Amino acid sequence: MKNLNTLLAGVFAAVALPFGALLLSGQSQLGGLGRAAGEEGGALFPSREPGLAIQGRSVYLSLGCVSCHTQQVRPAGQGSDLARGLGVRPSVARDYVLQPQVLLGDRRIGPDLANYGARKTQIEPEALLTDPASSGAVWHPSYRFVDAGSRTALIAYLKSLRQDYPSPEAKLKK
Ligand code: HEC
Repeated sequence: MKNLNTLLAGVFAAVALPFGALLLSGQSQLGGLGRAAGEEGGALFPSREPGLAIQGRSVYLSLGCVSCHTQQVRPAGQGSDLARGLGVRPSVARDYVLQPQVLLGDRRIGPDLANYGARKTQIEPEALLTDPASSGAVWHPSYRFVDAGSRTALIAYLKSLRQDYPSPEAKLKK
């Protein structure tokens, strides 16, 4: 086994090179992604979150809302999000470029919240959190124990969630 080192180096290279290339290709395709104007000379999207919403994001994280709610509208072929009116276009990578933690989630026990702030039919958030049964929600846990300040920040965060601006990658559903 005098070529053991060469063999090990070969095995290492066979694993490390494709893995490195995989990481770098993601970075080269999406790493430079920034905000874009919906129309020429127009405002840049996604817009910056208001300060209260940034606080609310950490409340959302600390209460574990992400264990039941996703924030990603799937394209028409991959789910019924668009048909159910949860969004007006599929989510794209650019939607998340300003978010310090991207809370996509991986379990949908409740509805997707990516475009909650822009939806016309939504359950009223204050009632939902303090007295779910009266808000029309059937299954929702109560968050009455959360102090009023944190609840206000959380609601500002929920209302700031919107993916209803045009993006170069995904057209709005008419
Ligand atoms: C145990 C799972 C679960 C957890 C945890 C949870 N939710 Fe929900 N959520 C649901 C379900 C289910 C619904 C649908 C309404 C119903 O039938 O109760 C819902 C509905 C909602 C809606 C209304 C959506 C709409 O389309 O109108 C909002 C907003 C919401 N949840 C926010 C939150 C926030 C904020 C948290 C954390 C504080 C949270 N949820 C935690 C399950 C959950």
